[in-house]
Amino acid sequence: MARRRRRCLKVFIIVFVGLISTYILLPPQKIENKAPTFSREQMLHCSKLGDQIVAMKSLTRIHNLTEFFLEVKELMSCPWTSNLTQQLMDLHTKCNASGMLFVTRENTLLGQRLTYEAQRKSTKLVDKKLYSMLPKAAPWGTSRELGHCAVVGNGGILKNSSCGAKIDTADFVIRLNLAPVDYISDVGAKSSLVTVNPSQVTESFNGLCNERQPFVDKAAAHGNAYLAISPFSYVVSTDLSFRIFYTMKEMRPQQGVHYIHPDYLLMLDRYWRKGGEMGSRLSSGFMLMSVALELCAKVDLYGFWPFDKDLSQRPVSHHYYDNVPAKQGVHAMPMEFLKLMSLHRQGVLQLHVGECQ
Ligand SMILES: *[C@@H]1O[C@H](CO)[C@@H](O)[C@H](O)[C@H]1NC(C)=O
Ligand SMILES: *[C@@H]1O[C@H](CO)[C@@H](O)[C@H](O)[C@H]1NC(C)=O
Ligand SMILES: *[C@@H]1O[C@H](CO)[C@@H](O)[C@H](O)[C@H]1NC(C)=O
Ligand SMILES: *[C@@H]1O[C@H](CO)[C@@H](O)[C@H](O)[C@H]1NC(C)=O
Repeated sequence: MARRRRRCLKVFIIVFVGLISTYILLPPQKIENKAPTFSREQMLHCSKLGDQIVAMKSLTRIHNLTEFFLEVKELMSCPWTSNLTQQLMDLHTKCNASGMLFVTRENTLLGQRLTYEAQRKSTKLVDKKLYSMLPKAAPWGTSRELGHCAVVGNGGILKNSSCGAKIDTADFVIRLNLAPVDYISDVGAKSSLVTVNPSQVTESFNGLCNERQPFVDKAAAHGNAYLAISPFSYVVSTDLSFRIFYTMKEMRPQQGVHYIHPDYLLMLDRYWRKGGEMGSRLSSGFMLMSVALELCAKVDLYGFWPFDKDLSQRPVSHHYYDNVPAKQGVHAMPMEFLKLMSLHRQGVLQLHVGECQ
């Protein structure tokens, strides 16, 4: 009897010491990881605010920008948790950025015809000349291999944001319309892929008809980032895009030009239009955001802000590098922004508005 009691005590002591040492060696993670504390009321408020934003399907609710900005500000200070949902699997099967973003020899045959994305009655024959410009395959393989991505929009909200260092922590940085990278502390220096807008090359570089060096220099500011252009949205862009391709091939061969596939753009447009009202065309920022959702493990967005005032009602320029307004009526930026906020709320991506710490 006494022996059994002693043995029991021994077992008890071993278990007790075991538990204590486990506790000392491995303190409970929950206590360690507790983020800035939010009260129950705050969490409820965040959740309500989030639901409200996710439910917003149109602009009609934004009749008072002051109120809307207050909501955005509050939402941005709410805790954010990642949640890569079913929706993204859907995006991959419906749009297939990994295989279809660029025209390649893997997704296009010599002799086939490409239908223009915005001019559906026009087609372009994939002749020997065009085929010779195509890479064998996309520069990346399967989904998510690009790791942590930052998509940097050109909004004036980036001015004085001090977001540069944070942007540069991403593995892969996507930029738009050959935006300048000379405001390093605000926009960062890294560039892995940058879009080129054909109309921008017509307006700022005279369509590469005379001097080509200024364009090459502008591209070179992005290091060896892939240049992405859409030659098959409008017929008028095709020859210009080819000129860009040959210019880079001749003067800066290490920086390749890739052609965005018109079918990819079409699929993407159908995909996002299902979710509610959008402008007549998706903006290139929205398009690249969608590419990133497929190819990256984590997506952060900076410089997406379609309003002319910041969250504290201070005036904001159109771009961080100039104040030239975009053409009216083409893109529905505020609608797109609403969608981005909803994706932020759902944990699909993380939107950054205003200053970075
Ligand atoms: C907009 O909302 C703010 C904050 O609630 C309020 O002070 C302001 O009067 C409103 N403005 C208009 C035009 O309704
Ligand atoms: C993640 O998203 C899915 C689909 O929207 C949702 O059903 C689920 O509750 C979310 N999970 C968390 C932890 O929020
Ligand atoms: C994506 O496109 C590539 C290249 O055309 C193809 O091999 C792959 O099967 C496609 N994947 C899906 C999910 O459609
Ligand atoms: C940015 O900071 C500079 C210098 O600190 C200041 O002169 C300028 O007004 C600021 N711009 C904005 C948009 O806040």
